[in-house]
Amino acid sequence: MNEGSRSIQTIKYKDICVYFMDYLNGGGSGFGQQYLRVLKERVGIVEHIYEFCAGPGFIGFSLLANGFCDKLTLADINPDAVECVKMTIEKNGLQDKVKCYLSDCLDSIPETEKWDLVVSNPPHWPSNEKQYKENIRGYDPDLIIHKKFYRDIKKFLKPDGSLIIQELGDATSLDTFKDMIESNGLKIVEEFKAKPLSVLECVLKFKNIKKNTRYSTFYFIWSKFK
Ligand SMILES: C[S@@+](CC[C@H](N)C(=O)[O-])C[C@H]1O[C@@H](n2cnc3c(N)ncnc32)[C@H](O)[C@@H]1O
Repeated sequence: MNEGSRSIQTIKYKDICVYFMDYLNGGGSGFGQQYLRVLKERVGIVEHIYEFCAGPGFIGFSLLANGFCDKLTLADINPDAVECVKMTIEKNGLQDKVKCYLSDCLDSIPETEKWDLVVSNPPHWPSNEKQYKENIRGYDPDLIIHKKFYRDIKKFLKPDGSLIIQELGDATSLDTFKDMIESNGLKIVEEFKAKPLSVLECVLKFKNIKKNTRYSTFYFIWSKFK
């Protein structure tokens, strides 16, 4: 890892300035922003959003800044990511709206937390333990992160709550997760891709249409209580 990737940087979502280090970015500041369009079209505004495997919280803070929720909870296993989230909370005065936890999956989150919507860009590639230890952003050893997540999430979900999880089509498909979801008392509402940006939006946003084509390999799984 070079020194630059550990220097503190910022990105602004409306009024919220998010603090991060490059090596913590798992794509939430890029393809993760597809959530803005996805929520606008499907769920709208809710009270409380949780971002699982949040890293520095690019997705969660952007949703909060854009008015999709009033309260936000974030958690990650990486202490550096949690430190960045704490810095963002403090510098933006968000102590009343945002909570964050250092947690392996949902293990250290108090059950008093209750969410309307769960979002996440989790590690996408099924792997072995060695690959995970080398890259905790990218790999999910024996899919244990997903398995634990779908096993435990119901304790935190409000009765009408839902999960919309972003996955990578090159790494998995709906079949990878179907049983994990359905055997834990949840039903699949929809599997979908974010609507592609128009050519004009691509040019304005990325100045590079190829990047938007790469984003089309991501898909979303929307589930809720049966
Ligand atoms: C693909 S990155 C996404 C980071 C950020 N949400 C983004 O979109 O840029 C996956 C994240 O999962 C976290 N992670 C890996 N294993 C985890 C676990 N067992 N429990 C919680 N978070 C975990 C990593 O630290 C990393 O921040």
